[in-house]
Amino acid sequence: MNVAPLRKRPAWAALEQHHKKMRDVHLRQLFADDAGRGEKMTAEAAGIYLDYSKNRITDETLGLLLQLAEQSGLRAHIDAMFRGDKINVSEKRAVLHVALRAPKGATILHDGKNVVPDVHAVLDKMAPFAERVRNGEWKGHTGKRIRNVINIGIGGSDLGPVMAYEALRHYSERTMTFRFVSNVDGTDFAEAVHGADPAETLFIVSSKTFTTLETMTNAHTARDWLLAGLKDQAATAKHFVAVSTNAAEVAKFGIDTTNMFGFWDWVGGRYSMDSAIGLSTMIAIGPANFRAMLDGFHEMDEHFRSAPFERNLPALMGLLAVWYNDFFGAQTVGVMPYEQYLKRFPAYLQQLTMESNGKHVTLDGVHVDYNTGPIYWGEPGTNGQHSFYQLIHQGTRLIPCDFIAFAHTLNPLGRHHDMLLANVFAQAEALAFGKTAEQVKAEGTPDWLVPHRLFEGNRPSNVILLDKLTPAALGKLVALYEHSVFTQGTIWQIDSFDQWGVELGKELAQRIIPEFEDAKEPKLAHDSSTNALIRRYRKMKGSG
Ligand code: F6P
Repeated sequence: MNVAPLRKRPAWAALEQHHKKMRDVHLRQLFADDAGRGEKMTAEAAGIYLDYSKNRITDETLGLLLQLAEQSGLRAHIDAMFRGDKINVSEKRAVLHVALRAPKGATILHDGKNVVPDVHAVLDKMAPFAERVRNGEWKGHTGKRIRNVINIGIGGSDLGPVMAYEALRHYSERTMTFRFVSNVDGTDFAEAVHGADPAETLFIVSSKTFTTLETMTNAHTARDWLLAGLKDQAATAKHFVAVSTNAAEVAKFGIDTTNMFGFWDWVGGRYSMDSAIGLSTMIAIGPANFRAMLDGFHEMDEHFRSAPFERNLPALMGLLAVWYNDFFGAQTVGVMPYEQYLKRFPAYLQQLTMESNGKHVTLDGVHVDYNTGPIYWGEPGTNGQHSFYQLIHQGTRLIPCDFIAFAHTLNPLGRHHDMLLANVFAQAEALAFGKTAEQVKAEGTPDWLVPHRLFEGNRPSNVILLDKLTPAALGKLVALYEHSVFTQGTIWQIDSFDQWGVELGKELAQRIIPEFEDAKEPKLAHDSSTNALIRRYRKMKGSG
């Protein structure tokens, strides 16, 4: 489908006009105008209830956003993704993470070949391995059972596994420990192995490319640590497995490729937690729970693919994000899970959203003349309420928030859960409606204090309510955000699946590393600031 540049799409111009009408309309007014708004502006699918009524929108806004989706070719783009078209244009790759959770028997073609059997072949290899580690059949080199699993990876090869482990810890094998090493800062590795017995430790080296500096540095350090403990070169065989697309590099590192779990170049790093990159998750929660998580993903995929946009959760969330980002000038989106197990969910979302949509050119390479990806951030509630929520309530910036909550807790303790849920609903209410000067005065507040105690309100939010944090629920939630990101990227006409922006820093670091090593100061050819910092560091570490 031929799509006009964003500003040339009729719905865009209409939204610009419409925004002039909407920017001063208060949510108090919108709710007063329509008593049924809180029930009407909701959508439900795959067990997720989305209340989007506390957004600064009317039916007209929604209608225009839906027209924008049509005029942006969202339907055709979704079909192209599911069809295996190479929609990652700058890397000439298909984008088929949806195939990772397709049921056995489904057909998803990549270059004319059905990839679903390959996906299940890997799952069928992961499952018995995970079981053997869990039940102690897989022994370490000295015959001890594995008690510690350490995933070494970074970016998508770390954030998904850590987030999923934390999110599903309730379902995890509690006799084992699961740790994650990502940073090239040696402290990360040192702390991860602190107190661990090498004879009981399994490393999963997770790297799509198997060339990433941080991961390979940590993997070599891990091998040295293991061999220092077990004193036998042959020990690596039982203590290292790999997850990668690059069998040649895995073999070069010294891991037998029979202990390698593969995936494919059509899985982006940040979209890979449900591929073999999820091996640590599968060991932690067991194959059945892992498959339940995949089913959850799939349910949301099917919803996104088939539901009309006016009832389509990811499409609605993506369109609302565009509304605030491009018309209200909001720069960030706060994601606040009222669920302690989701404490790493915002960090995970940061890569998903910002590595995907932090782009400055369109698919054709033309510089955009509108804002693209907002900054996503967040912390679990209620903790955030006692720190940065002040700024959301009374600061000068507009920060649309997503509040995520579950009706049932996994840890029923007295009235804790009612208190948690009361707080999430209260926050959404307070942000939307605030407190007027009259209300503040009526509380007996002296006049001079009224401005300080006043809440303007009109701060938008979504409330996302699920039943219980299960593996399937996690899959649905992640897929919800994946497809919201897709929707936003489609409107902005950018490549949400490449990540060229991380390359320059990597290149420059590679150039600087040897400049620390030379005994004689090499000629430094950076800018004067970088040169001075390198010289100072050399001096400080005693090698200058
Ligand atoms: O540097 C960015 C990135 O390429 C991410 O997109 C990716 O998730 C991460 O690095 C890790 O890459 P790999 O899995 O190849 O080690």
